[in-house]
Amino acid sequence: MIPREIVEEIIHRNDIEEVISSYVTLKRAGSNFSGLCPFHSEKTPSFTVFSSSKNFYCFGCGAGGDVITFIMKAENLDYPSALEFLARRAGITIPKNGQAEERGISRTRIYEMNLAAAKFFRQCLFDPAHGAEALDYLANKRRLSGAVIKHFGLGYSPNDFGMLTSHMKRLGFTDEELMVGFLCGKSQKNGRLYDYFRNRVMFPIIDVSGNIIAFGGRVMDDSKPKYLNTSDTPGFKKSKNLFALNYAKKNCADRLILCEGYMDVIALHAVGFENAVATLGTAITPEQARLISKYTKSVLISYDMDEAGRRAADKAMKLLSDVEVDVKVLRMNGAKDPDEYIKTFGADKFRQLIGKSQSGFEYKLDSVLSKYDTNIPEDKIKAAAELCKIIAAVYSGVERSVYIATVADKLGLTADVVKNDVDRIRAGLIRQYKAKEGQEARMEARNIGDRINPDAAKNVMAASAEEAILGLMLLYDDMRSRVVKGGSKLTADDFYTDFGRRVFEAITELEASEGGFMYSLLGERFTTDEMGRIQSMEQKRRQLSTNSADVLDSCIMTLKAAKDKENEENDWRVALAKKQEQLKKKKENKN
Ligand code: UTP
Ligand code: MN
Repeated sequence: MIPREIVEEIIHRNDIEEVISSYVTLKRAGSNFSGLCPFHSEKTPSFTVFSSSKNFYCFGCGAGGDVITFIMKAENLDYPSALEFLARRAGITIPKNGQAEERGISRTRIYEMNLAAAKFFRQCLFDPAHGAEALDYLANKRRLSGAVIKHFGLGYSPNDFGMLTSHMKRLGFTDEELMVGFLCGKSQKNGRLYDYFRNRVMFPIIDVSGNIIAFGGRVMDDSKPKYLNTSDTPGFKKSKNLFALNYAKKNCADRLILCEGYMDVIALHAVGFENAVATLGTAITPEQARLISKYTKSVLISYDMDEAGRRAADKAMKLLSDVEVDVKVLRMNGAKDPDEYIKTFGADKFRQLIGKSQSGFEYKLDSVLSKYDTNIPEDKIKAAAELCKIIAAVYSGVERSVYIATVADKLGLTADVVKNDVDRIRAGLIRQYKAKEGQEARMEARNIGDRINPDAAKNVMAASAEEAILGLMLLYDDMRSRVVKGGSKLTADDFYTDFGRRVFEAITELEASEGGFMYSLLGERFTTDEMGRIQSMEQKRRQLSTNSADVLDSCIMTLKAAKDKENEENDWRVALAKKQEQLKKKKENKN
């Protein structure tokens, strides 16, 4: 546990507006600040930073908390690491006690370690005693110039179990650090460390701030696995980064080229397409899509020309259009990926190909048509059905009518016939959507599907009384202290939902502790989603003008009554069941 004084110091020295400003463009709104929420996509700002309470809350997605919660969410860190992050930002040293040391290794340390390792790998590549074969592979087999090799910081991990380990230990990195950073493994047999990457050409993965966050290492023959990658470490979440975005971010405002592989990106950059990035093997994630949308308005998907690539492209199209990025898809003939295409046909041909890239719809049209022989009636019907379904989901009426004309033309049908089917399917989709929306609204009203507080659905009256009580206790020091001192005769047992009880217990425990209640210390006990809910309770009360002690008392009464009523009902149900049982027995006896 980090001492309370340090947490106070960290909060004090990290002004929430200032910290959040480096993630979100904030505009003054009255005494607060607002901006576009970084945790969900939106076009009108519902994200608010409250100057007086030093909290934030998004009225759109319910994210909320203090500056620590914000960093936990934005940087994907746990509570202690977020504190460390903020401490470092403000130049505060967190005193090391045993626990803190054991817990983890800071990101900066991981970056330092990766940088030292990258230097080592590069030295090995250019050292003829070790890297001759690797350099030959990169320069001749992959035809990369010395400048490109250096630009991407490529290297070579020697064919040895201990060279990197002993080099890094000489530099002062500990066993623990080397293992957490995924550069070394520990032998099951003798407990000794060994180099994780061996006899591979090394690709450092660099984030937009220039830190080396991970490595990919490729074999130089056909052995498996082709690439070995750093697993997720404190510094590196694969789902949040893109290979070469550190370079591409300056050149991609108009268009970003999205590839599958490291080598595709390097080949593209080498011939002047410095707007290419790769998704690191895994299919694109929503986080990556959002990251992309920060840097560009338009993406050209240039995935491999195989089934896996096609599927990945479908997914990327969907995720990118969700974040309102315009998508085009590139089709290559005679090569499986951009790297091979450029080697075979040259950069100019690739540029021409970009000119011919297809819109999302054209691409889908082609992939449907390529599955069927439209001279066969059954096939034609199937193709038409699939295409009508795709068009029916398009929002813009103008776009729909253009696509209808294209499909009619391709299949030799009249536009009217196609339009009829599209309209019918679209009407069905709208009905479905409305029904779902209505259902969602009803569920919302009854708190069904509430993952944070699942008990709330069972007794809505009790749950909302709880929220009001907790909101008031968070907002007003005097009400909190009265409740905790027993002045309101409210105890944890009075709470109906498990979540409400936990929040109540946390508040009372903190209030009764030596230093008194401190909002930021809640972060240690609750997840960021729960912190958002706690913040929402506070915000709901803040927006009401009727927040007197009477309101608190009447909410407490409501809560107790709602619970009593339920107990009564339960008693009544038990009584009824007993009665029925007795009647049954009587009947049986009669017979
Ligand atoms: P590819 O097999 O298409 O690799 O995988 P590539 O980049 O074109 O490599 P070359 O041209 O054969 O050298 C695409 C990406 O998938 C990930 C890597 O990020 C790779 O760049 N991958 C692939 C792995 O992580 N592990 C593997 O074993 C294979
Ligand atoms: Mn390739």
